[in-house]
Amino acid sequence: MSKISIKTAIPGPQAKAIIEQDHQYLSTSRYQMYPFVLASGQGCYVEDVDGNVFMDLHAGIAVTSTGHNHPDVNAAVAKQSARYLHNCGNVFYNDMQGHYAKRLSEVTQINNSDKNRVFFCNTGAEAWDGALKLARFATGRPNFICFYNGFHGRTLGGISANSSKVIQRHKFGPLLPGMHFSYFPRNYPCPSNPPYPTTTEGCLEYLEEVLFKKVVSPDEVAAIALEPIQGEGGYIVPPKAFIQGLRKICDKYGILMIADEVQSGMGRTGKLFAMEHFDVKPDIVTTAKGIASGMPIAAIVASESVMNWPTGAHGSTYGGNPVAIAAAEKTLDLLEGSLMDNAAEIGAYFIDKLKALQVKHGAAIGDVRGLGLMIGVEFAKLENGRVMPDADLRDAVIQKAFEHGLLTLACGNSTLRFCPPLTISKDEIDSVIDIMEQVFSALIS
Ligand SMILES: Cc1ncc(COP(=O)(O)O)c(C=O)c1O
Repeated sequence: MSKISIKTAIPGPQAKAIIEQDHQYLSTSRYQMYPFVLASGQGCYVEDVDGNVFMDLHAGIAVTSTGHNHPDVNAAVAKQSARYLHNCGNVFYNDMQGHYAKRLSEVTQINNSDKNRVFFCNTGAEAWDGALKLARFATGRPNFICFYNGFHGRTLGGISANSSKVIQRHKFGPLLPGMHFSYFPRNYPCPSNPPYPTTTEGCLEYLEEVLFKKVVSPDEVAAIALEPIQGEGGYIVPPKAFIQGLRKICDKYGILMIADEVQSGMGRTGKLFAMEHFDVKPDIVTTAKGIASGMPIAAIVASESVMNWPTGAHGSTYGGNPVAIAAAEKTLDLLEGSLMDNAAEIGAYFIDKLKALQVKHGAAIGDVRGLGLMIGVEFAKLENGRVMPDADLRDAVIQKAFEHGLLTLACGNSTLRFCPPLTISKDEIDSVIDIMEQVFSALIS
């Protein structure tokens, strides 16, 4: 499986039958952009149940970082599966968790820390909830500052901090008290000239001058909690000065900083964690998704002085499942071996090529941005002299790209996100660019 090949009408007959069954029995809350039904994968390629081969540029939402079916990851999973599947590492000892916890604690940069500790759980949202609990426990303070456009998962703790789409919160209240929202800056505001701050200075001033003076006293704030690069909200990369400004505010008021690196972490941006691009160390990091190439595991990492909650304060039956740990260890080997560097190099190459397409196709491609292989392309249109999001164009691009054999994903108001396996090569990017060129030419006049 090494090239795109579409042989049937999409969806083909097998896919149709499976989709029909899914629609009958699975929760109505699910959301699919296109009728692709996975049968197998290899590297960046995935084959559907009718034998059509597509290129996977979303990696199961930034998860299969080492590509599909990586032989080393598979071998690690098979080896551990043959030993034991579970023993609840939260309550009993096993010979897998401590070794990986040591490695993860050593490679995660944490503020004012000589030694970190790790709590294992299963999903990004579970890590987020645990991080909120840890911050409240460590500071004795109840409140949090989160950011508009942020996304942290679907638990009540997650949706209480989410503000990327209201559907995620609608009718689920009352939500967690003590969550206050501030603004996240953007170099490319779309809609343009919005009635809220978008610059570093404006966003930091709003936090200190409005939120802290009128809404919540900083000495009652446990943590400023953010995605270093907003993911679901639109792949928004903030200016370095903003993250550094937040760190200063945290230090000034004794507030912890939580970095939700669930999407931006584990090598995706070309560094292990995206915070490293901003030269800022958070106090608590959450990680999941790309950590284990597709096996479900997540982690909270904090300094020993912060993660000192007592026995029994937090737990998880499956957290740090030994098979998932085996996949995570191997994934970290591969990231450190060459994949993180590949993400940096190929990501920069991809962004350059996309920017060249932007020049060619004009203002409809409003912005191309990203770090490493976390790349967003935002579509825009002019309305009454104002730049506005063009979600219809973005959705049409995703559909047409799909027809040409590319699996992509939306985020934000009108952004297309590329978060492929970190194994992707220059040649593969060249073929993606050839297809995107055809797609843009067909849809943008
Ligand atoms: C930044 C961020 N945090 C948390 C989550 C939730 O992760 P999970 O779906 O594993 O609960 C996501 C998922 O997309 C995410 O992107």
